[in-house]
Amino acid sequence: MNLVTDLIKDLANQHGRSRENLLPILQGVVEQEKYLSEFSMIEIARELDLPASEVYGTATFYSFLEHKKMGTYIIRVCKTITCSMKGKNQILLAIEDMLKIHLGETTGDGRFSLLETNCLGWCHKAPAMLINDDVYTELTPERIREILSDYMKK
Ligand code: FES
Repeated sequence: MNLVTDLIKDLANQHGRSRENLLPILQGVVEQEKYLSEFSMIEIARELDLPASEVYGTATFYSFLEHKKMGTYIIRVCKTITCSMKGKNQILLAIEDMLKIHLGETTGDGRFSLLETNCLGWCHKAPAMLINDDVYTELTPERIREILSDYMKK
């Protein structure tokens, strides 16, 4: 039996199989797998007895539910207005320069993915970013180099 199929069954047992349990199940799969494959979406549709188009529609609506295989560390730089005005572009450049990837890409060793996100609710300490679930604020290119050097040693 496929591991994702088992995971989806477990999540459905845990959350329930009705329409309103779709989001927690999608989140559960992303948490474990780091992304949502087409196979997973079809399996979820089958398990919950929903049309695959509905699962796909929900999954694409939430930008936090990734559809591509992501790195171990997912960096999400806030692109909303306060962070943009407070130097988000320099932050992105510093990350791109250090990891040698562009926005939307993953490093060759599969460790880091670089994305943008909407406001993280830390505008008073802009610019801000997330690395997985950890928030980093008041960023400068120097801070980026320190933070990423620490992650590279992990
Ligand atoms: Fe970036 Fe709110 S605008 S955290």
